[in-house]
Amino acid sequence: MERLDKILAATGKWSRKEAKALIKAGRVKVEGETPKGPEDKVAEGALVTVDGHPVNTDKFVYIMLHKPDGVVSSTEDPREQTVLTLLPKELRRIGLFPVGRLDKDTEGLLLLTNDGQLAHRLLAPGKHVDKVYYTEVEGALDPSDCEAFETGITLADGTECLPARLELLEEANQALVTLREGKYHQVKRMLASRGKPVTYLKRLSMGSLKLDPMLPPGRWRYLTDEEKADLGL
Ligand code: URA
Repeated sequence: MERLDKILAATGKWSRKEAKALIKAGRVKVEGETPKGPEDKVAEGALVTVDGHPVNTDKFVYIMLHKPDGVVSSTEDPREQTVLTLLPKELRRIGLFPVGRLDKDTEGLLLLTNDGQLAHRLLAPGKHVDKVYYTEVEGALDPSDCEAFETGITLADGTECLPARLELLEEANQALVTLREGKYHQVKRMLASRGKPVTYLKRLSMGSLKLDPMLPPGRWRYLTDEEKADLGL
């Protein structure tokens, strides 16, 4: 059970003050009934409407963003455009954050949520959630690179990476990389250590969640019920 004004404010569409005003103006209904006031307790899953339109009262929000090149994965930045600016205003004030970061010039799948537990489940070291990237490099990749990835690459600064997978594609400068960890600039540093610097990088998946091929760079959508179920939600 949660206060009605709090539920409305959690959507990001209205401030707490605006939610109270809507309720007092009689524009809000709970299961078709007019509530007594903003402090009314509402059960999880109850149908709440504003001016007859149903309101999504889910506690947490899960968004798939196709991150474009040129925006940073943080929620605030004094100089750079952040991924949050790609969302509508009401979704920028409900505490969403990216689950794992992509570099400014990396494109692809970014999951945004305000569910800290899910973020922990996907990111905590030792959870080993597979992340798949498509990459293009300078030079030509060959089977010796695949073997090095499988054995475990040691980065220039001595950091040892877990065994990873490098899958060669038709063009010798293109490959798929599967990582089970997420060190800073990891794909770029792994390929740099092979003398084949990355020229393009795009994340395709994270665990069960795959970038929707219909979602162009810069666009977002809510996760489907199936995608949420596959993440154990
Ligand atoms: N590895 C990188 O080097 N950059 C990313 O953005 C993600 C993985």
